[in-house]
Amino acid sequence: MDFQLTDAQKAVQKLVANFAAQELAPGVMERDEHKIFDRKLWDRICEIGICGLPFAEQYGGSAAGYVSYVLACEEICKVDDAIGAGIAVSIGLFGGALNAFGTEEQKQKWLVPVITDKKIGAFALTEPSAGSDAALQQTVAKLDGSHYVMNGAKIFITNGGEADFYVIFAMTDKSKGIKGISAFLLEDGTPGFSYGKLEHKLGLHASATRELVFQDVRIPKENLLGAEGQGFKIAMQLLDGGRITVATQALGLSEAALAHAIKYTKERVQFGKPIAANQALQFMMADMATAIEASRALIYRAAWLKENNLPFAQEAAMAKLFSTDMAMNITTDAVQLFGGYGYTCEYPVERLMRNAKITQIYEGTNQIQRMVIAGNILK
Ligand code: CAA
Repeated sequence: MDFQLTDAQKAVQKLVANFAAQELAPGVMERDEHKIFDRKLWDRICEIGICGLPFAEQYGGSAAGYVSYVLACEEICKVDDAIGAGIAVSIGLFGGALNAFGTEEQKQKWLVPVITDKKIGAFALTEPSAGSDAALQQTVAKLDGSHYVMNGAKIFITNGGEADFYVIFAMTDKSKGIKGISAFLLEDGTPGFSYGKLEHKLGLHASATRELVFQDVRIPKENLLGAEGQGFKIAMQLLDGGRITVATQALGLSEAALAHAIKYTKERVQFGKPIAANQALQFMMADMATAIEASRALIYRAAWLKENNLPFAQEAAMAKLFSTDMAMNITTDAVQLFGGYGYTCEYPVERLMRNAKITQIYEGTNQIQRMVIAGNILK
């Protein structure tokens, strides 16, 4: 057993940490306050090679592996998890979909530009009546000659309206239930494809969350991803990976919350001494640090399993469940350690607490993660 990162993994970690400190940290509070999705930062993320980390060199990637990609996400999320969330969707869900299920032509057309040409991807599964019950898709795609005709709507789509490319799930044969769901590739600007409501959210303000609307959208047959009827399995398989990076988002913002809490409690003087001298507060931070180590171990192991093509769905669900509940606790405690100041927008911990909440919800609520884990252990 080896708990060391390789030199190559450490190099990725260092590169991304430096980038995040120099280029993401200065504007993070402003992007949150004014709800800014900053495309120029995305361009930089692509330029320094983050988008290509898990992909083969033949598609412009660096074949650095899934663990390196997770390390990069962690460093980004320590500084700006709203950007980290968008990266995870674009690279992990959209890029991952092409990588695992795309034909060679589809990879050249849709994956290569995400890796090398600063294009952004998104993943559209959720609908008003298909949230946890993802199989209840109402969006339909009917075959009409050489095209499918899509009608319906998706909600809560991360990168919605900002992305260039989308994976959309739709019913191609309602009579087949789950086995009637298919996945399609769709480009921004396709006639009949428009954007609906932009969500105003509790947190993750620098990440765009929009409704997508399809009105008689004609999608060429060659944009079918995988086989007709394979859509539900494609979605589930991708979400297994996505759950590792949601856990990583939670880990990153927990690490940030602890770092802020340590600094603040050493500086803040009450009753004639830094408040960090109080054992009650020390114990809070000791618990935070212990949980963070446990979360990191769960995440890295799930990522290692995925990188090595071993089953990882249960481990991903466990990492997501543990890390995101932890993030909610740690960020809430960090606000407590800051006292009244923590509740103001002058300090970063209130943003971390707001952002932590979504990690318990998206890419499968933590109740769904428990269903996945229970389903596996009781098999
Ligand atoms: N990998 C591959 N196949 C899988 C799978 C997986 N992880 N999980 C299930 N399947 C397959 C099963 O094998 C089964 O296939 P067969 O019939 O051939 O055996 C089929 O799918 C149906 O399985 P279930 O009966 O277990 O499916 P279910 O309807 O009971 O649902 C669920 C299972 C785990 C609850 C699933 O619906 C689920 O994960 N729900 C949560 C959805 C979710 O995470 N939504 C978030 C959307 S994205 C988002 O958050 C926002 C964003 O911007 C990214």
